[in-house]
Amino acid sequence: MIQILILTVVHIYGLQIEDKVTYLPPFNMTDFNFSIFSGYLSITDSNQSFHYVFVQSQINNLNNNVPLVLWLNGGPGCSSMIGFLQEIGPFVFLNDDDESLQFNEYSWNRVAHLLFLESPSGVGFSHNPLNITFNDSQTADHNLKVLQEFYSNYPEYQKNPLWLAGESYAGAYIPLLAEKIKKFNDLEVAVINLQGMMIGNGVTNLTHLPISQLIYQKEHQLLPPTFDITACEKDVTSEECEDINYDAWKITKRINPYDIYGYCYYEEKENENELDWIQEMKQFMMIHNDNIVKVTNHELGVPCVQIDNIQNYLNDVQNKRYLHVDENIQWFMCSKSHNKQFKYVSDPPLVMKVLQELLNFDLFTILLYNGDADSVVPWIDTLQALQKLKITITEQWRPYYVKNNQLGGYTQGYSNKLRFVTVRGAGHMVPQNDRITAFYLLNQTLNGEAL
Ligand SMILES: *[C@@H]1O[C@H](CO)[C@@H](O)[C@H](O)[C@H]1NC(C)=O
Ligand SMILES: *[C@@H]1O[C@H](CO)[C@@H](O)[C@H](O)[C@H]1NC(C)=O
Ligand SMILES: *[C@@H]1O[C@H](CO)[C@@H](O)[C@H](O)[C@H]1NC(C)=O
Ligand SMILES: *[C@@H]1O[C@H](CO)[C@@H](O)[C@H](O)[C@H]1NC(C)=O
Ligand SMILES: *[C@@H]1O[C@H](CO)[C@@H](O)[C@H](O)[C@H]1NC(C)=O
Ligand SMILES: *[C@@H]1O[C@H](CO)[C@@H](O)[C@H](O)[C@H]1NC(C)=O
Ligand SMILES: *[C@@H]1O[C@H](CO)[C@@H](O)[C@H](O)[C@H]1NC(C)=O
Repeated sequence: MIQILILTVVHIYGLQIEDKVTYLPPFNMTDFNFSIFSGYLSITDSNQSFHYVFVQSQINNLNNNVPLVLWLNGGPGCSSMIGFLQEIGPFVFLNDDDESLQFNEYSWNRVAHLLFLESPSGVGFSHNPLNITFNDSQTADHNLKVLQEFYSNYPEYQKNPLWLAGESYAGAYIPLLAEKIKKFNDLEVAVINLQGMMIGNGVTNLTHLPISQLIYQKEHQLLPPTFDITACEKDVTSEECEDINYDAWKITKRINPYDIYGYCYYEEKENENELDWIQEMKQFMMIHNDNIVKVTNHELGVPCVQIDNIQNYLNDVQNKRYLHVDENIQWFMCSKSHNKQFKYVSDPPLVMKVLQELLNFDLFTILLYNGDADSVVPWIDTLQALQKLKITITEQWRPYYVKNNQLGGYTQGYSNKLRFVTVRGAGHMVPQNDRITAFYLLNQTLNGEAL
């Protein structure tokens, strides 16, 4: 008995010792009053291991009231290291051209513990020994297992309120994981203390998304007033609509789709042609005619976005050692791991169905926020999805103010603790584009306060 007990203790605290990060250039962690852990969480039944980064909160770590925020980036196939090193973590590339990490005054760990997961296991530094085609429901299963694995290695955080947060395709990952947690809680004694979710520019109805993108581009004068999109409004899967999308791309290709008023880091590609375009745009503008997204390793992956700093940082061998990740893996922001192609099949109708189910879950807070300068998942797409759900508006569209009474954006309240918020002038990566407002939304939401 005693021996088993001791072994258990060693097992429990093992990762917390092994995975503790001592140095994250140029920062020496001894200078900070919180710790960062980085390493792998494995799920045994399918031989996959997930790279995670756990950032303790700057507030009293022993307090069970401090929320734990699980953050996921989207894609599918993009790494949550984007969230860690560009958006909400304590050390970030503050500006696009920064070559070195800087302290983030608006880090979300000022008010919460942060858990970043590179998921599914074909992403970033995570390991997947199998030749898998990932899908939504299996990804949610795996995320739940990894979360349980996290709790078994960090049991002192099991009681803390859990929040799921993320952006873009995480608009699918998060509700599906929330639903799995809810079902798990119905069966188990050791319940997961899930309180709510916050999703930025999240996908909802993938079938509708390409239409929203065109409408948004027209409304923002990115396409000529005479540009006709009616064929797409009639049938998004038609060949005519594909032509319209191609024409739209030719006109808008030097506009940063993730931040339409931001800078586009654009390089004319040598062999740029129509076929490449159709392949690539189907993946990244998420046109799911065949419901299949095959994300491969390509440069156009995140058009116009500056990614050199984070890629250089994470591919530095010494930095890989500091983060306890597999040195043989070349890290890509999106999609590739282990020289294997990353394959993912989406199930477009699933997200709306699960969102509707979650709305019946008492005490569950949902914040959907959209940077209003994003054309990839435009705010209008999220609003129209909400109009399809069986909910009622409890508070009409109104402005909210941040930063010395400046307009932050607009918000609308719904029944079932759901709130929709726009963030004025922010793009797809809201916490990167407007750190102050994103932090404000987080803190208000965690505290159950109005905007
Ligand atoms: C970090 O600081 C500690 C304490 O000052 C020191 O012992 C350690 O060598 C430093 N680490 C690095 C990599 O500089
Ligand atoms: C996991 O790996 C072990 C050892 O390589 C192998 O025997 C087993 O079949 C694998 N399991 C799965 C689900 O692939
Ligand atoms: C940790 O340091 C930050 C400032 O860097 C401070 O605001 C916070 O109160 C400190 N936390 C604790 C628990 O002392
Ligand atoms: C992975 O599976 C695909 C079919 O889904 C097959 O074409 C390919 O050869 C497989 N690759 C490996 C390394 O097994
Ligand atoms: C998702 O993948 C799992 C495991 O490969 C498989 O069992 C399941 O049928 C797939 N679901 C869908 C909807 O394709
Ligand atoms: C998703 O969008 C398509 C295309 O606009 C629409 O036909 C369908 O009803 C939408 N589904 C839901 C659940 O709202
Ligand atoms: C977070 O919100 C709470 C409650 O409104 C407030 O007391 C606190 O000052 C806020 N924290 C920060 C860091 O802004």
